[in-house]
Amino acid sequence: MRLPTLVLQALVLQALAGLPAHAAPSRIDDLLARMTVEEKVGQLSLFAPVAAGALANPVTRQPSAEGQRDAIRAGRVTGLFNGVGREGKREAQTIAVKQSRLGIPLLFGADVIHGFRTVFPVPLAEAASWDPSLAERTARAAAIEATADGFRWTFAPMVDIARDARWGRTVEGAGEDVFLGARFAAARVRGFQGPDLARADAMLATPKHFAAYGAASGGLDYNTVDISERTLREVYLPPFRAALDAGALSVMSAFNEISGVPANANPWLLGSVLRGEWGFGGFVVSDYTADEELIAHGVAADAREATRLSFLAGSDISMQSGLYNEHLPDLVADGEVPMARLDDAVRRVLAVKEKLGLFDDPMRGLDGTAPADWPEHRALAREAARRAIVLLRNEGDLLPLPRQGRRIALIGPFAEGPHDLHGPWTLFPGPRPPVSLAEGLRAALADSSSLTVTAGSGVDRPVRNGLRDAMAAARNADVVLLAIGEGEAMSGEARSRTDISLPAAQQALAEAVASTGKPVIVLLRNGRAMALTGAVREARAIAVTWFLGSETGHAVADVLFGDAAPSGRLPVSFPQASGQVPFHYDHKPTGRPVPESAPDAFYKARYLDVSHEPLYAFGHGLGYGRIRYDAVALSHQRLPWNGVLEVTATLTNTGPRAMDEVVQLYVRDPVASVTRPVRQLKGFERVHVLPGATVQVTFRLQRADLGFIGADGTDTVEPGAFDVWVAPSATGGLKARFLLEGPTLHNVGKR
Ligand code: NOJ
Repeated sequence: MRLPTLVLQALVLQALAGLPAHAAPSRIDDLLARMTVEEKVGQLSLFAPVAAGALANPVTRQPSAEGQRDAIRAGRVTGLFNGVGREGKREAQTIAVKQSRLGIPLLFGADVIHGFRTVFPVPLAEAASWDPSLAERTARAAAIEATADGFRWTFAPMVDIARDARWGRTVEGAGEDVFLGARFAAARVRGFQGPDLARADAMLATPKHFAAYGAASGGLDYNTVDISERTLREVYLPPFRAALDAGALSVMSAFNEISGVPANANPWLLGSVLRGEWGFGGFVVSDYTADEELIAHGVAADAREATRLSFLAGSDISMQSGLYNEHLPDLVADGEVPMARLDDAVRRVLAVKEKLGLFDDPMRGLDGTAPADWPEHRALAREAARRAIVLLRNEGDLLPLPRQGRRIALIGPFAEGPHDLHGPWTLFPGPRPPVSLAEGLRAALADSSSLTVTAGSGVDRPVRNGLRDAMAAARNADVVLLAIGEGEAMSGEARSRTDISLPAAQQALAEAVASTGKPVIVLLRNGRAMALTGAVREARAIAVTWFLGSETGHAVADVLFGDAAPSGRLPVSFPQASGQVPFHYDHKPTGRPVPESAPDAFYKARYLDVSHEPLYAFGHGLGYGRIRYDAVALSHQRLPWNGVLEVTATLTNTGPRAMDEVVQLYVRDPVASVTRPVRQLKGFERVHVLPGATVQVTFRLQRADLGFIGADGTDTVEPGAFDVWVAPSATGGLKARFLLEGPTLHNVGKR
């Protein structure tokens, strides 16, 4: 089809202005023409509400609630986030729409990370389901609840790859793997935004933190990131790309520097890559005071310079520092910031507000009353929680437990009470307390008097007579459920740890309980991979239960008593010891790989004191069935350059119970012009296998699945041999080899 020149020109101009092609430019053009520079800058200034006591930062110049109302009235605020209640939103929106000169509506944002009133499992736990459609459903439910409360913008999903378990924010993402991470990133965006942003229950999604925030040195939150462009492009960027391809129209820039340049002031990252290569038409919001932090980073001498650097690099909205309000008008007046850049940023923001339907119906979600509790989402919370549980070990098929005829001692600091069930980033829970383990178990047992409950220890300190009471309880029971792990304050933002093992008091509890000789089932509570030692590592059964949210106790009981089979798989490797992190399965071989046949060989890339293998591999998880991988077959030995190769696995359930198996496809490029990981996940498929049944699972591989960033920095695929595994986890499985046909070296083209 040929387009008339004028239309073409308009399209080009629109693209240059960064406008999504289908936004109606007329309203925005009209507004832009009438806005003062101060009003334009106001559309780029986001604040937490003063009423919630959040404006401690003096530069925001809104020291009181009245001051903030005045700022809204003057058109100096684009939106409010988090602690703004429904009443506060209604009032603020009324001021913006009715009393400000141009009546531009506010956008209310929030950290809706894993639920709103109904609390779903933390994102890492949901990723353990290896079912992106589950995360899509929980994100949808969260959006329905949050939009009914007037929030139209979430600062989620967090799509940072986390390869260092010390990093506290591991809990907020989908774990260590790029492929899995990208699938979850896209699913969550689809869930939050729904089919159409204009719908009243659509929530604008914000993939964050752009970029490489998870690569913080030493796993220390906010710390320096120093990685190659190859690692950035291969590992940290793909989940963002997937989120944008799924339609996300805002991105949050990260606090960290990357190789000397803070992300918030990085024109290459926010400009060349995000807007240039990827054609991103939405807006970038800085993380909380990230612009001001350029001073502490040591790249800006003062607030004015920090403003200029952030804004020119591409951070459109300033969160909370107030720096844009303070300095952008002067910078524009002095010619240091071009008006075109200001207009570009404002257009981006207004276009998104328009897409959300805010201009047409600014009071959406703010009229009438909003439910505080959403009973219709409980079943989903229970399902999601159940499916997040990962059974690491089940010696002698101790699980599932019979519902009667056993005396059960539930022991540990997480046994009882409503604490540490929601997990970090639960800002808006409904009034109903989450279901504790004790409650869930009592409800499931035929005779609840067969359950005794004992704390035995605090989260990080002993309790008086704790060990004595715990041992007595264990002796009087047939089986012990040991509810131990991390409290919810031990992961999340600014909550990095140097040691990812259990706090000493709980380890002592585990040893004391084990000394009774009773069979122990560990119910691990955690927001990251942990290093399990001693009696915990040796327990008869270990189930990873993360932070499961509103329905925790019921979901755990469902799995323990076999109403639901465990079907989660680890989205993060569990190392042998803390000192092994960062640890991820898709590492490079090095020139001295540890030989499979001689794991103790010397002068190899391994530590002296622990095995080179993970304690539990990425992708690992048991069910109540037993799966045997029988065979892997390739449709061809050669994959033509433009062809498709089918990889078919045959598996059989040799156990007595049905099994949900997550069949995983890994590849390796054994010889390439740059070093390649020992394995990379390229596909996974969940299959339900009845006892005695044999099933086949087929994956399709194409050239595009085999690429990497070549020596010249471009997307590259090289013909030659590839190894492929169909496996139950990142270690083991059945292996085959095929040949990708093609000319000697191929660049798939410049970006
Ligand atoms: C800082 C966090 O890094 C970010 O993830 C969050 O969205 C903002 N604060 C707003 O709460």
